[in-house]
Amino acid sequence: MDFQHLPKIELHLHLDCSLSYDVVRTIDSSISVEEYNDRFIAPPKCANLADFLKRAPEGFKLMQTEEQLRLVVDDLFEQLAADNVVYAEIRFAPLQHIHQGLLAHDVVGVVEEATAKAIARTGIQAGVILCTLRHFSEDESMETVKLVRKFAGTKIVGFDIAADEAGFPIYNHVNAFRYAYDEKIHCTAHAGEARGPESMWETLEHFRPSRIGHGVRSIEDPILIERLKKDSIHLEVCPSCNVQIDIFESLKNHSVRSLYEQGVSVGINTDARTITNVTLTKEYQRLHDAFGWTREHFLRCNLNAAAASFTTPEQKLDLSTRLESAYRD
Ligand code: ADE
Ligand code: ZN
Repeated sequence: MDFQHLPKIELHLHLDCSLSYDVVRTIDSSISVEEYNDRFIAPPKCANLADFLKRAPEGFKLMQTEEQLRLVVDDLFEQLAADNVVYAEIRFAPLQHIHQGLLAHDVVGVVEEATAKAIARTGIQAGVILCTLRHFSEDESMETVKLVRKFAGTKIVGFDIAADEAGFPIYNHVNAFRYAYDEKIHCTAHAGEARGPESMWETLEHFRPSRIGHGVRSIEDPILIERLKKDSIHLEVCPSCNVQIDIFESLKNHSVRSLYEQGVSVGINTDARTITNVTLTKEYQRLHDAFGWTREHFLRCNLNAAAASFTTPEQKLDLSTRLESAYRD
């Protein structure tokens, strides 16, 4: 089955963890392909999420000037086009890009403008989500969410918390998510990845997101599954990344199949295209190989993602109509 040509929605991918070798070489010609494979891509099995995340600085170290940020956005849109992605929500943490003098506000401005230009050039619709990080201070989290507010009405569409769920508690970030809730900012949050259901309960209570990044360990708690269904909380599932950080031994043991069958809203994503060395087309192919998933399953996942996206009702309807007609052909 050829999955490449099917239109896809991707709601969970990290800009700074998705640099192709081409863009890395353009930014720093001294990096050989062997070094890229060694430093930027993690092994197929990592000890845990923290081990996996050790590769992330390789990407954001090369994204410290306006020109570098523009190059990386353009590079990602080329990868999205190759996967036939029709709508993407791209995330990154602006405060990781201020190490060579850029102001956080300018970082967001450059990425927003580059995204708007890439949308006009490629026809791929997209939004940008700003991330705070688990190890950030309360001030850094507030600064990040306030950037989402300042850029309201642009391609900046939401707020997220990423990084090491197991290594850092939620306290520093509760006020930022309260601010987001009061300001009606769309929110998602990484949870139920490096920790289990208790982390998801805590996230739902204190951050009140409409989606959860990963959330795959909800399979351990039937009451949590009922809650996700009742409140239509969408799970942004990234299957290969979950196997790589060893939540599941292999894709065949991944909870996405059961979550889908139990009626949870799930979508399929890559998370970190470079660190995991994956494309969205490969993710679909692997789910087909592991579970026999067909167009019908992928249509459902994409319609779930369209409904949960942080875009306008008009664009959601347009995306759903396009998906229905392409998958039913
Ligand atoms: N940043 C990039 N990938 C991530 C993941 N899988 N979990 C948390 N933070 C991340
Ligand atoms: Zn992620």
